Amino acid sequence: MPVKDGIRRRTARHIRESKGGTPLVMVTAYEAGMARLVDAHADMLLVGDSVGMVHHGLPSTVPVTLDMMILHGAAVVRGSRQALVVVDMPFGTYEESPEQAFRNAARILQETGAGAVKLEGGVRMAATIAFLGERGIPVMAHVGMTPQAIHVLGSFRAVGRSEGERAKILADAEAVAAAGAFAIVIEAVEEPLAAEITQKVAVPTIGIGASAACDGQVLVLDDMLGLTERPPRFVKRYAELGAAVDAAMAAYAAEVRERRFPAPEHTYPRKD
Ligand code: KIV
Repeated sequence: MPVKDGIRRRTARHIRESKGGTPLVMVTAYEAGMARLVDAHADMLLVGDSVGMVHHGLPSTVPVTLDMMILHGAAVVRGSRQALVVVDMPFGTYEESPEQAFRNAARILQETGAGAVKLEGGVRMAATIAFLGERGIPVMAHVGMTPQAIHVLGSFRAVGRSEGERAKILADAEAVAAAGAFAIVIEAVEEPLAAEITQKVAVPTIGIGASAACDGQVLVLDDMLGLTERPPRFVKRYAELGAAVDAAMAAYAAEVRERRFPAPEHTYPRKD
């Protein structure tokens, strides 16, 4: 088990074995500073490809690259000590074949030090998940609304509204669990479906906009901290850091414009 400063880091196996226990806490982290602040409270940190939209100003997660994920993933591993770090495989880096997925997932684990990868898709990704698992790569699956399919879906709306869609999402979850995924993110489905999946699969389900029927929750950190302008409706804001940054910046700008800088006690000590 990986140990840093005497602290054991959680592993995919821990997470899989916590099914049915205390609900699992997962949140996104994209860089070392925030990872350092949130690590102690989280079971898992997700280096989500949402970083493309949240921190790079991209319109969707589709343009996110493997190099971006590796850069952010390595920073989050450096900033954290005890949470399992899971790195998203970006669009176009795993869908083509199990071999392509292995090559890119291996790069992620080798170059970031993360403990697992996440990929989107259900039945169609099951063979790839099994291929990776057999070769030493723990995989978290992601079913329900899958943002990388935005060009097919048309919008980031809730899914599972018809009987056919619900049956497909359940089949997806069962397929990835049977293929060896250690946990499953379920995005934007209603409570009865989340509850049915959670009851039927033997691995933890981590909901995002999928109710408290799941075994845990993942949120985009910037949404819950009040740093994004229009978070999804299901997100509770635990802080208003956007407003705090605005107030701090206004105070700083006013002082600089009045030439009140730096505060005398904060000047560098002179050598002579
Ligand atoms: O990229 C991300 O932040 C995610 C979460 C929405 C689950 O995949």
